[in-house]
Amino acid sequence: MTREITVSVIKADIGGFVGHGQVHPEVVARVRAHLEEEGPRRGLIDLHVTSVGDDIVCVVTHRRGPDDAAVHGLAWEAFLAGTEVARRLKLYGAGQDLLSDSFSGNVRGLGPGVAEMTFVERPSEPIVVLMADKTEPGAWNLPLYRIFADPFNTPGLVIDPKLHAGFRFDILDLHTDRRISLFTPEESYDALVFLGATSRYAIQAVHSRALGTVAAACSTQRLSRIAGRYVGKDDPVALLRCQNGLPAVGEVLEPFATPHLVAGWMRGSHAGPLMPVALADATPSRFDGPPRVAAIGFQLAEGRLVGPRDLFGDVAFDGARREALEMAAYLRRMGPFQPHRLPLDEMEYTTLPEVAARLAGRWSVSG
Ligand code: F6R
Ligand code: MG
Ligand code: MG
Repeated sequence: MTREITVSVIKADIGGFVGHGQVHPEVVARVRAHLEEEGPRRGLIDLHVTSVGDDIVCVVTHRRGPDDAAVHGLAWEAFLAGTEVARRLKLYGAGQDLLSDSFSGNVRGLGPGVAEMTFVERPSEPIVVLMADKTEPGAWNLPLYRIFADPFNTPGLVIDPKLHAGFRFDILDLHTDRRISLFTPEESYDALVFLGATSRYAIQAVHSRALGTVAAACSTQRLSRIAGRYVGKDDPVALLRCQNGLPAVGEVLEPFATPHLVAGWMRGSHAGPLMPVALADATPSRFDGPPRVAAIGFQLAEGRLVGPRDLFGDVAFDGARREALEMAAYLRRMGPFQPHRLPLDEMEYTTLPEVAARLAGRWSVSG
């Protein structure tokens, strides 16, 4: 047994209630019951199951390391058990993210999203889990850049000696599956060349240069690429360690006070503001949105998850919610026009091939 703790956040959309808006409470209960029944035997120390929109999120702790077959297999079985309930209730899109009929080793590439970190638990270890619905992994690029590289968001970068040395960003090219590591602050302009292109590049992990340890991990699955056809948005999760040489909890939450536009609203084909919400409000309804982010915080105690605290359930984020709703109303007026509608190659739904083929003979050379 290693001294290191692994926190694994594993999520999937295994059926929506009603439509794509929420997870049915019976599904959450079934997934939780499976983890509780089987978890101790598979080495789980603790677990927490919650949901955001139509995505169910399992937070588990253990000492088995990353990509562990027993832990990932357990989550997979729990999702299968939840899918049985979803099928019985005829929930919408039951089992949609379980893309393979059989589990083989770990859930990466199978459909569920995973953000996982392995580290030696510090004397006090506050962690935050960010969970978004109706968007994609690149939605974390802007807030994570602000948390780890922007001193106007994170004053610790300027005034805390341990943050002052900067961070290493591991960035994934979602088209080629290649990865690059860039170091801030000195390579921050280079990093932004990629991070600003949110449909193609996504942050996989962030490491502290001073502490030599992982600070953040994100889920970077793209279901549309895994399946070869559209089966739902990727709806990412991220896991962050906080305080004492890492960004403060408040520095982690601060970027969400200014809602940014993300891809993934209605039919995965529209841009909309990412609205920070308490868990009770993580139920997208207007135009199937707008996209939402919820945040839960825990203190780790020898792997025990002490919590959660519902971190956006704070009146201090009311202004951001109001602003997001104004942005949403403004964008909705644009209807099917860009930039509310996504560029052609980013839409999850398109009638273009059929329409283009049918009208092919109607085009003529202009002029
Ligand atoms: C799903 C989502 C929704 C659906 C829309 C159409 O997360 O964003 O907006 O894309 O409700 O869903 P289908 O095609 O399943 O009827
Ligand atoms: Mg869904
Ligand atoms: Mg979803």
